[in-house]
Amino acid sequence: AAIRRKTVKDILKAKGHHKLVCLTAYTAPVAQILDEHCDLLLVGDSVGMVLHGLPDTTAVTLDMMIMHGKAVMRGSQNALVVVDMPFGSFEESPQAAYRNALRVMQETGCQAVKLEYNSAAPETIRFLVDRGIPVVAHIGLRPQYLHVEGGYKVAGKSEESRKEQLECAEQVVEAGAFCVVVEGTKDEVAREISDSIPIPTIGIGASVDCDGQILVTDDMLGMFDRTPKFVRIYAELKSQIETGVKQYADDVRREQFPAVDETY
Ligand code: KIV
Ligand code: NA
Repeated sequence: AAIRRKTVKDILKAKGHHKLVCLTAYTAPVAQILDEHCDLLLVGDSVGMVLHGLPDTTAVTLDMMIMHGKAVMRGSQNALVVVDMPFGSFEESPQAAYRNALRVMQETGCQAVKLEYNSAAPETIRFLVDRGIPVVAHIGLRPQYLHVEGGYKVAGKSEESRKEQLECAEQVVEAGAFCVVVEGTKDEVAREISDSIPIPTIGIGASVDCDGQILVTDDMLGMFDRTPKFVRIYAELKSQIETGVKQYADDVRREQFPAVDETY
């Protein structure tokens, strides 16, 4: 029987009751595997690095997000699907953000969009939510600010930064976000945010006390040689692929593949 897809209300109601299991997804077959285990699938703009070989997320386009969003929707039926608003697609004005978020929602069929916090975020989030587009906010370390920050910097280390992050969290709640991703933030600050706001926090490089956790799926499955400290490796996909491909190459070169019963 078809499982009813999770809703924004289901995610909200989880706070204080059960941890939210979240992962990134970019393709239909992987989304299909993750779907029954996850509350939320995020089509992250990390797709630029994970699948397209880009150095960071700043060159990811709306069309890329829509293409991967469609694939993830086709591959899933249970999890709530959130698509990232890429760099440049929501900052200019609430109106521009709305037009682009509308395209994402209509063309992919996803349930919500996510955007990285900026000074216009409260106004933009309110504008989208008022028009029927649920929003996940992203605070703490914001990868789209790489060039402004001069690197990926953990948030909440100073008292000033702690206050700033708490304020961001309160603002996005006030603006109507139903969930907030807290990335790369001091453990105690992420905990304080989680304790002080009524919507779920999803941590990545944050705190065990966040209301849920998310990782980049390809990171936790061991697709890369180098992963940050906050990633726990749950599989060794890269070495398994290497082993399989090496065996195949050897078999072809030694004329061990195909065998007679693998031909017509
Ligand atoms: O793009 C992404 O994958 C993300 C998550 C890491 C939160 O924004
Ligand atoms: Na992202």
